[in-house]
Amino acid sequence: MTIDNPISAEIFNEIVNQRRSIRVYEQNVPFDEEAVKRSLERAVLSANSSNLQLWEFYRVKNPRKKEALAKLCLNQSAARTSRELIAVVIRPDLYKKRSQAVFKAIRPSFSTPLTPKDKRAVTYYNRLIPIVYSYEPTGIWNSIKRVVGFVQGLRKPFPRLLTYTDCRIVCHKSAALAAQTFMLGMKSEGYDTCPMEGFDQVRVRKFLDLPRRAEVSMMIAVGVGKYPEGIYGPRFRIPNEEVIFEI
Ligand SMILES: Cc1cc2nc3c(=O)[nH]c(=O)nc-3n(C[C@H](O)[C@H](O)[C@H](O)COP(=O)(O)O)c2cc1C
Repeated sequence: MTIDNPISAEIFNEIVNQRRSIRVYEQNVPFDEEAVKRSLERAVLSANSSNLQLWEFYRVKNPRKKEALAKLCLNQSAARTSRELIAVVIRPDLYKKRSQAVFKAIRPSFSTPLTPKDKRAVTYYNRLIPIVYSYEPTGIWNSIKRVVGFVQGLRKPFPRLLTYTDCRIVCHKSAALAAQTFMLGMKSEGYDTCPMEGFDQVRVRKFLDLPRRAEVSMMIAVGVGKYPEGIYGPRFRIPNEEVIFEI
């Protein structure tokens, strides 16, 4: 499907340009909680590695709990004054459950007998994903995978993201894309956000009662931005010529 309406680009441009990280929020103005729900539902449509969706999103709305959580976000003004705090969490430990769900969803589209493309999908979800995502605390398995990647890579292009740390990075990438979709979604609804990595990861994990290998990728403050106090300065970006290249 193509969207051939140039107005879409204009609207998108407006949303992207208007989104700023807002550090102070209005307190006594209407706030549509459903906008958060809609934006999270948009967030889960984000591109993500292997479609494993190794993410979770926690909404903290209760004022008392939010106040306690804001303290763990180093008492930042964005967290303190927000209407809600969203924790974007990665769950690399759920790889088995999620890869089975993805496989079950794509299985009906396979041909009988399996085409080479189908066979690749079977191998990918049933063999490769478990090899790459499996966790083993001694680090031996990681070293083996690193050596295999190195040796294979001498002969041909070979994916090098094989260790457990690599998997965590991949999960954080996907989570960050979802966070951006969420923030743009909130802006499209007329609300503001502030992504935060300034928080105590250990205490926030405990606060959310997350399992051992879950990690909080980002906290996001949401609310009705207070202008101009909420904007800490004019938007600055490195000139495009210094960061966008044609090769
Ligand atoms: C991963 C990440 C972590 C961030 N952490 C914080 C934070 O802890 N506190 C804060 O006030 N802003 C934080 N920010 C917001 C950035 O400072 C902000 O995006 C940047 O200055 C650009 O401004 P803009 O978002 O208004 O365009 C974070 C942004 C990202 C993407």
